[in-house]
Amino acid sequence: MAATATGLICRSDALADGGLGVRFTITLEDGREAPAFVVRHQGSVYGWLNACRHQPAQLDWKDGEFFDLSGQHLVCSMHGALYLPDSGLCVAGPCRGAKLVSVDVCEADGEVRLGA
Ligand code: FES
Repeated sequence: MAATATGLICRSDALADGGLGVRFTITLEDGREAPAFVVRHQGSVYGWLNACRHQPAQLDWKDGEFFDLSGQHLVCSMHGALYLPDSGLCVAGPCRGAKLVSVDVCEADGEVRLGA
């Protein structure tokens, strides 16, 4: 779902722990649009730009499929880099030590929205 003018990304119940993420688009400070996503991990929601730190590629191999089979790491579909869902740190793969770019999101009243 694309982010709306009000910043709504999705309903809270759209995000299961370690399950499918929700893709959306944000406008960067320079006016460019960029793909982003939210996932739920250990109860909390995290937002990231959908951009691997190895090469210009989106992470999900299929819409919303961001987690590996364990449900504990975000995985890049291109070369398998593994990222921690909470810090965005790459812990395995060709860009080990790099971090995903975070997107401020918040959860309240059963909704996930853009913003801190
Ligand atoms: S493009 Fe993501 S690991 Fe290579």
